[in-house]
Amino acid sequence: MSDRQSIRPFLAVLEKDGALLRVPKPVDREFELSAFLSAADAGPALLFESVKGSSLRVVGNLLNSRARIASALGLSPSDIVPRIHEAIRAPVKPLRVATGVVQEIVETEAPLAQLPVPRFFEREERPYITAGVILARDPHTGRGNASFARFVIHDGRTAMVGIAPNHHLALFSRRAAEAGKALQIVVAIGAHPAIQLAACLYLGVGDDEIECAGSLLGAPVRMVPAKTVDLLVPADAEIVLEGEIDARQPLEEGFVSEYHGMYENYGPGFRTTFSALTHTKDAIYQAIEPGYHREHVYLGALPIAASLRSAIAVVVPNVRDVAVTEAGAGRTDIVVQLEAPRPGQARRAIFAAFAAVSLVKRVTVVDADIDPWDPVAVDWARVNRMKLERDLLLVPHAGTDRSESMEDGGLVTKAGFDATAKASDRVEGIERALPPQAQRDAARTWLMNNLPSERRGWLK
Ligand SMILES: Cc1cc2nc3c(=O)[nH]c(=O)nc-3n(C[C@H](O)[C@H](O)[C@H](O)COP(=O)(O)O)c2cc1C
Repeated sequence: MSDRQSIRPFLAVLEKDGALLRVPKPVDREFELSAFLSAADAGPALLFESVKGSSLRVVGNLLNSRARIASALGLSPSDIVPRIHEAIRAPVKPLRVATGVVQEIVETEAPLAQLPVPRFFEREERPYITAGVILARDPHTGRGNASFARFVIHDGRTAMVGIAPNHHLALFSRRAAEAGKALQIVVAIGAHPAIQLAACLYLGVGDDEIECAGSLLGAPVRMVPAKTVDLLVPADAEIVLEGEIDARQPLEEGFVSEYHGMYENYGPGFRTTFSALTHTKDAIYQAIEPGYHREHVYLGALPIAASLRSAIAVVVPNVRDVAVTEAGAGRTDIVVQLEAPRPGQARRAIFAAFAAVSLVKRVTVVDADIDPWDPVAVDWARVNRMKLERDLLLVPHAGTDRSESMEDGGLVTKAGFDATAKASDRVEGIERALPPQAQRDAARTWLMNNLPSERRGWLK
């Protein structure tokens, strides 16, 4: 892969692997583009070559599985969480450069007017930008932050940004407003997948996700000064918007989709005014299908899993892996895998997960012989290794996020499932009933040699 820090090198890999489908037919931004992305949810990435009313191409469904994210980072799927965990512990500062391809074209007239922003779902009133990584600085400390939040388009310069009140960008916006100011921001679209993943990390206030992106990339993120605000922007991104969020100016949104797949109505967000659009000569606009769609799920899921892995390791050092389930949209339902847990450690891991990410409402703890990413294996452990009256923990009235589907006044009941094997439970032991290893190996070898390659997926 080339070292350009945008989505381009990954698009080339997808195309080579037959995982990118070009859509030459003209596509309408009003629901049609969204319908394509929704229909191809877990399938190929889609490159829309002709979008009505815009000269820019649009790509979507890039990072819609663990395998895709692994490929974008040059890793195997099981290495993603450990690699992000490492990146959190060894951040790499960005590199300031003088020029960047993202500034080949600069527009200041009506920065939003040219972008092919789709309208996604029936009950939503306006189109919105979903794949924008927003960079800002804490007005108190000057430290940086990177995160996603949607920009709902109002006119050529104005949008509403919808940020959960507990997110760091909302905190910075409120801090700027308290000082009587708007918060300067830049928004990078089509930045390298490592930058997009880092933006979804749950770190402390003041821990700059761009530095984790540098560590994940194995090279500092190249950043160039913005044209109209006092911030740096990722030099290789496809598109950058520059502007400011004013938390003193509310703008209504109406219904909006959430990761669980249903609509929410959060009321007003903050007015954002854009002062510039910059982009590469042949820019590709990235659209992430929101709601309960795989790219939205997995892009959030892997960084949340890694953030939890890091937080749980502080109190339970024998944590091996953390998985975030698709049913929980990669956010609310997690599985923690422990190596040889001692009595009581499963509960400590459950409490650590609840404490680290307020979205988490269900935690299952399994042993090292259960693959936490395999929902059937995890359910097997729940069915066969739990005495519910002893191993099911309910925590009523626990604080959660506004996006939680069952929240009531900011509270929800959280559940912990200790599905680890306990030594005293079964006199017969927990050994799996299987033929002897030597015969299993021999049978597997024969089948590998005699099954057509496309059928080998049957083999355990
Ligand atoms: C594609 C995508 C879109 C997102 N959109 C929003 C959004 O509209 N509002 C929001 O508050 N969080 C959104 N998020 C989640 C935040 O970006 C994420 O929780 C981030 O870690 C918050 O940053 P912080 O930890 O610096 O506060 C989105 C995540 C993804 C992957």
